[in-house]
Amino acid sequence: MTSESAGHDVRRELRNRVLVLTVDNPPVNALGVVVRRALSDAVEAAEQDSAVDAVLLIGAGRNFIGGADIKEFGKPPLPPSLPVVCNRIEACRKPVVAAIHGAALGGGLEIALAAHYRIALADARLGLPEVTLGLLPGAGGTQRAPRLIGAKAALDLMLSGRHVGAREAFALGLVDRVGETDDVLTEGLDYLKALLDAKAPVRRTRDADGLADPVASRAAIEAARAETSKKSRGLFSPLKIVDAVQAALELPFDDGLRHERQLFLQCLDSPQRAGLIHAFFAEREVLKAPETRHAKPRAISSVGVIGGGTMGAGIAVALLDAGLPVTMIERDDASLARGRANIEKVYDGLIAKGRMTADAKAAVLARWSGSTSYDSLVSTDLVIEAVFEEMVIKQAVFAELDRVCKPGAVLATNTSYLDIDAIAASVSRPGDVVGLHFFSPANIMKLLEVVVPARVSADVVATAFDLAKKLRKVPVRAGVCDGFIGNRVLAVYRAAADYMMEDGASPYQIDRVVREFGFPMGPFQVSDLAGGDIGWATRKRRAASRDPKQRYVQIADRICERGWFGQKTGRGYYLYPDGARTGKPDPEVEAIIDAERERASVTPRTFSDEEIMRRYMAAMINEGANVVHQRIALRPLDVDVTFLYGYGFPRHRGGPMQYADTVGLAKVLADIREFAQEDPVFWQPSPLIVGLVERGATLASLNHTA
Ligand code: 3HC
Ligand code: NAI
Repeated sequence: MTSESAGHDVRRELRNRVLVLTVDNPPVNALGVVVRRALSDAVEAAEQDSAVDAVLLIGAGRNFIGGADIKEFGKPPLPPSLPVVCNRIEACRKPVVAAIHGAALGGGLEIALAAHYRIALADARLGLPEVTLGLLPGAGGTQRAPRLIGAKAALDLMLSGRHVGAREAFALGLVDRVGETDDVLTEGLDYLKALLDAKAPVRRTRDADGLADPVASRAAIEAARAETSKKSRGLFSPLKIVDAVQAALELPFDDGLRHERQLFLQCLDSPQRAGLIHAFFAEREVLKAPETRHAKPRAISSVGVIGGGTMGAGIAVALLDAGLPVTMIERDDASLARGRANIEKVYDGLIAKGRMTADAKAAVLARWSGSTSYDSLVSTDLVIEAVFEEMVIKQAVFAELDRVCKPGAVLATNTSYLDIDAIAASVSRPGDVVGLHFFSPANIMKLLEVVVPARVSADVVATAFDLAKKLRKVPVRAGVCDGFIGNRVLAVYRAAADYMMEDGASPYQIDRVVREFGFPMGPFQVSDLAGGDIGWATRKRRAASRDPKQRYVQIADRICERGWFGQKTGRGYYLYPDGARTGKPDPEVEAIIDAERERASVTPRTFSDEEIMRRYMAAMINEGANVVHQRIALRPLDVDVTFLYGYGFPRHRGGPMQYADTVGLAKVLADIREFAQEDPVFWQPSPLIVGLVERGATLASLNHTA
């Protein structure tokens, strides 16, 4: 065995006449320009070198190759491009084998597809997830994958973006062999030796016959096109993927590659690509809150939940699902039984759908215990309070926790709006108190606002982030204020929607327009789903402290006064006959709105769909900017992630702050100033936006300043 040069990004080593190329570009061996160049040069060198019989491609660290370097997208391209590198590998006249462990995703899998043979280890994850970034596989993937595994399977991989394991990859024909150990180098070398011993020829994927049956291929493409048109709701790249596979069927390989390139560049240029890649980095960036850099999380191996209502039960399920034992505390036995029943309902739903067995449910519930005595929490590491939204009740609960919990236990509240500094100040250990604001249904919604009161210790915040990871939630650090990040911004754009409704737009038009923008539901549908009574109670509580200059729309109150709280009462803004989940417009609600317009002396006017969305987004963006300005959110991207994961903001638009940059902040500011002419109290431009526009800067420019 001799060793050749040790490059930085692709190491070369000659072993028994096999040139081993190890892609070594931490953290995920992304195919940045240096790696591309090094790979291309190394294959060239292997071909020239008479001491080399074959090439083995592997990755260093935990993955084969995580894909193209996403950070390069949107910047001027640097040669060689990835398709050129893949072609270079495929054209090699000596056998090239890819041995895959960990991730072989996107361009990583495309490199493997360009190799002549592939072996995957048990931990391998293969996929073409470009669609999740607004792209299509642009290094030959749309041409090689269908030739290798057929149009149907390739389309499924590319349109879903899902990862497949080694066994499935083998069954699909994506790899030729599954390794038996976790030693990728040895497995790869053994496989190569077997191939060389058998005099296996150089075999190129471009010549594979997966599209040999044109009728079946065409049917798969047409089926995918029909399904994608129906399901992909305004997304750009999915139909381009179908087009590219059609090109694979109809064109010679090299022409198909050229066509793929054109389509890839169109996707690359799309704002959807920018939005989705922003979302990719933002959801990783939120994990890096300042406290997580310096402080070590406390160990959490048991959790208490106070309250077994909507949120307490959902939070308990999230914890149980993560394998944690949960002790639930309720006011009395009947409430405790209801809390337990709320939890069981979730699992029974899964059983009914065939997604869980009765035994699995029993195993999960074995981790649950209930009590009406706080003394059951003496040894608990973390307690999450989810009782009624009343300061006196919360403080009474915290007094009990202060009395019984062991030193060092983390004391968290799930309050939606209350002042967590005041809750912390009421106990003898304010450093242990933090906000863990889950979203309903708490076992499903990914967002977890980690609300950081003034006196909390850093390790408690780090513990909250650590818990989020265990629960597979996306944590966003938020400061204390009324509504934190999400609900504070929500209150403002909800008000904008109410104003438009009173001024002449119907709630049904507003909901439709918001859906067409990409939200799964409009604001009035959300209200009907959550229950109108919750907002009504909050409005009544705040009535006394409401700024009398602030416009107040009473339509929701009129609806609630009739007992119409939404889906659970069969009607709200919509009618839900016979328990229907999708509502029908209600003429009686329209009559209430008309009456309220008259009472408020409003002459209704028509709103174009475009104006509705402009106002809705201007309100959201302006308050999002205020939240950043006041350091409630660390950066604009924290607002974006909050809305992507807690409020159904369309991911391809990246979040409200990213969207503002896409539209242009100066334009958003001009809109706000225009709207302010009719209501200067509500429409006050955020100082952050004003300052950025003066400097000609974007919100994104603040994303690196946490
Ligand atoms: N390019 C640049 N950076 C990347 C990257 C990529 N393709 N993939 C991951 N990273 C970065 C992350 O931003 C993160 O950086 P940070 O530490 O500074 O926050 C770091 O690598 C580690 O990433 P994760 O935290 O996600 O690490 P995991 O171990 O949890 O997951 C992974 C590893 C499964 C590879 C995951 O990172 C992933 O899914 N990456 C993206 C895969 C992908 O979409 N590839 C397709 C790219 S597009 C393409 O290839 C186009 C081609 O067809 C032409
Ligand atoms: P809920 O009314 O469904 O449940 C509250 C539960 O707390 C009831 O089961 C009640 O018996 C119990 N409880 C009341 N006082 C108690 C005490 N002293 N000791 C023990 N248990 C007690 O309310 P929900 O919706 O679950 O809300 C709980 C908290 O979560 C509130 O602070 C709310 O603002 C917050 N929240 C609610 C969200 C929602 O969508 N419902 C979303 C996020 C937060």
